[in-house]
Amino acid sequence: MNLKDYIRVIPDFPEQGISFKDITTLLKDGAMYKKAIDELKELVKHLEIDLIAGPEARGFVVGAPLAYALGVGFIPIRKSGKLPYETIELGYNLEYGKDSLAMHTDAIEKGQKVLIADDLLATGGTISTSVNLVRQLGGDVVGAAFLIELDQLKGRDKLTDVEVFSLLSYED
Ligand code: PRP
Ligand code: MG
Repeated sequence: MNLKDYIRVIPDFPEQGISFKDITTLLKDGAMYKKAIDELKELVKHLEIDLIAGPEARGFVVGAPLAYALGVGFIPIRKSGKLPYETIELGYNLEYGKDSLAMHTDAIEKGQKVLIADDLLATGGTISTSVNLVRQLGGDVVGAAFLIELDQLKGRDKLTDVEVFSLLSYED
């Protein structure tokens, strides 16, 4: 069985016209979850990486095990109001809706090499905001890694100066 067989596609969720890629069906299968993280590790292991940054919530499910597998640290990129220490914040547009993301101001030491990881690249709003936050904190973004890329939404085009690694892609 391949990884795509474990991703459930839900039409018209959360809005008409959106084809939701549900990774919960992949995550609950231990062997396939491990395979997904192992394969993602293979895609990025040639990079020099000090830290992995993942945007809440699904970015934690991909970024934290990837950090563990690579033996590097993990830093959370959180939705507004969740981080307890001093933060920087940036607003962004989502495939559906608006939000803002925050990081602790001491999350990164200047010049540290940061790989950003998330479950899915759609419009690229979440990741370009994450890239901007990491750069504002002095981090060097060495790439962005995803389980899934939605080709039609052209998120990759927003990330012209960031190398993109994705395991699976969908036309819609
Ligand atoms: C989803 C997904 C990505 C983002 C992709 O997160 O997990 O982070 O959307 O869309 P984009 O490329 O258009 O920004 P969502 O904000 O729904 O929240 P969650 O991870 O907390 O479920
Ligand atoms: Mg997300």
